[in-house]
Amino acid sequence: MSGRLGSETLVIATHNAGKLKEIGALLAPYGINCISAGSLGLPEPAETGKTFVDNALIKARAAAESSGLPALADDSGLCVDALQGRPGVYTADWAERQWFEGKPGRDWYLAMGKVEGLLAGLGPDADRSCHFACVLAIAWPDGEHAVYEGRAMGTLTWPPRGTMGFGYDPVFVPKGETRTFAEHDPAEKHAISHRADAFAKLVAEQFGA
Ligand code: IMP
Repeated sequence: MSGRLGSETLVIATHNAGKLKEIGALLAPYGINCISAGSLGLPEPAETGKTFVDNALIKARAAAESSGLPALADDSGLCVDALQGRPGVYTADWAERQWFEGKPGRDWYLAMGKVEGLLAGLGPDADRSCHFACVLAIAWPDGEHAVYEGRAMGTLTWPPRGTMGFGYDPVFVPKGETRTFAEHDPAEKHAISHRADAFAKLVAEQFGA
């Protein structure tokens, strides 16, 4: 099956240079030229959705409407089974120092500790199953959209281990592994990550690859 994306310019609805680089490299083989919403001076909409799909669509639609070009956005996070899927869409918010220390910025060790504290409160036999989710949404200026969801299944470990990666990587052990994501080198992680899974689905539908 082939989708609607052709050899054209795609706005990546992010102000994060790292994400633009990673997504640009993944789409370059398909003749897609990526530019960031940040470089076009587009405003960042508030992520007010209750699901990853809602938030990815809010960002993709806002960028497509204000640029007149197709736009791609992603939203991702950690979902812990025993915490009814939390932190979910609030994954980044759980790292806000403001909540703990009244200071600006994010602290991932505080965030990992908060998850661990909640699990510890459920007792020594708490289910430690979790997954990372990544939703990619493409929106076209005429209102059409496409959504792809990827997952990396795993369990949470404590204490955190490893120095690579970012966010909650030091406590996430992917299914079938003993090492955390932060103990995987980037290429190894990218081969099995939730983002890779979502991109594989996008590429299969949009480019028949
Ligand atoms: P966002 O999609 O940029 O809003 O990010 C959501 C949050 O989920 C990030 O700030 C990370 O804390 C977390 N997250 C998403 N993907 C990963 C990952 O691959 N490893 C570790 N943390 C992740």
